[in-house]
Amino acid sequence: MIYPIVKYGQEVLEKPAGPVTEFDGELKKLVTDMFETMYAANGVGLAAPQIGIAKRLCVIDITSGQDPNARLVLANPVIISVEEEQVQEEGCLSLPDFRAKTPRPLRATVRAQDVTGQEITLSGEGLLARAFCHETDHLNGMLFISHLTHLKRESIKRKIRKMAKAGEW
Ligand code: NI
Repeated sequence: MIYPIVKYGQEVLEKPAGPVTEFDGELKKLVTDMFETMYAANGVGLAAPQIGIAKRLCVIDITSGQDPNARLVLANPVIISVEEEQVQEEGCLSLPDFRAKTPRPLRATVRAQDVTGQEITLSGEGLLARAFCHETDHLNGMLFISHLTHLKRESIKRKIRKMAKAGEW
């Protein structure tokens, strides 16, 4: 099932999500739906709050479905270490059509649980490190625009307010 994606402005995107506690069939189904929703939207990551579910759960596939082994499920992820910095264009399915150069760690290690509840530790570099940080941020109620300069962030917010007024958001 493909869920509608919640856009910036909805409260669920800016509140810390609650922990995943049940690793059952329902969670598996939710993960399947999140991958389907992410691929349909051409995203490389999706966090549960983006479909209106306030749980600490996200899916990542930086190959956009090209490599089945690249599918990652992170429940209750925590970034445990970061190294160096990269500044690349970043976007978010909840802020469609807005992209901005965003500073992130070049390398990041995340500790999480997989869909069965098994503890996992994953390290990523470049786009994968960016995805770990971006999706973990979502679960803490944070969006990529909070890493931009005040000026840049306000300019994006102003455009969104204008679009919302015109019924285009
Ligand atoms: Ni996002």
